[in-house]
Amino acid sequence: MEIRIFESKEAVAENFCTFLHNLIKKNGEVHIALSGGSTPKIVFNELASEYRDLIPWADVHLYWGDERCVPPTDAESNYRMTKEHLLDAIEIPEANVHRIKGEEEPEEEARRYASVLRQNVPLHGDLPQFDLVILGMGDDGHTASVFPHQIELWDSPNLCEVAVHPDSGQKRITLTGGVINQAGHVAFLVTGSNKSERLREILDKEGNYHQYPASLVAPDSGELLWFLDKAAASEIS
Ligand code: 6PG
Repeated sequence: MEIRIFESKEAVAENFCTFLHNLIKKNGEVHIALSGGSTPKIVFNELASEYRDLIPWADVHLYWGDERCVPPTDAESNYRMTKEHLLDAIEIPEANVHRIKGEEEPEEEARRYASVLRQNVPLHGDLPQFDLVILGMGDDGHTASVFPHQIELWDSPNLCEVAVHPDSGQKRITLTGGVINQAGHVAFLVTGSNKSERLREILDKEGNYHQYPASLVAPDSGELLWFLDKAAASEIS
């Protein structure tokens, strides 16, 4: 595990983009699962402005680690956020963008997306192996859309499950722990002081930290990187 701490969320985004660019140069064709949330939005803006002509987007295949069960035009849609902040600015083949169809019946979509992963992401054993899974962490310790009140979803034998947001009741499609921990690299992007207490519990392995799904991210590859700003990292020892 590697922890990288930066002055600001903008610096987190800049450094993560350098890491991503180097990974793409090293691996050639890459399969990446994207996260929703506010920190990735800054990353996408940086990629769209500084890396539009530097990254060979035809070699990049994009998926989502989770999606809200809403239409792709909905303000809540992770796909819509990615389209507005990245996809509309780069020349990436449509066939390389594998969105979760939030507008479909959730259980059916979870099954469909699992088959999309099996058909498109290179298999390692019987699991799709992403080159990179990008994750955020909620201040409740959730990651992707596995929330503490449904932590059992993490160990589902299915690649994807239907989750429910604990406050809004919104349904979501989420990747589960097996495929996330199969990835060649996992990168957490965590910023903001509202994450600092949870990060301390998880990174300092305090108390019942395994109640938080983010604590269960442990890629078999060992390549787990935390990109943090100082605000989020303010309480870790
Ligand atoms: C989502 C995300 C979610 C996010 C965390 C952190 O669909 O909302 O996938 O897991 O990563 O909630 O979000 P922030 O980066 O906005 O804090």
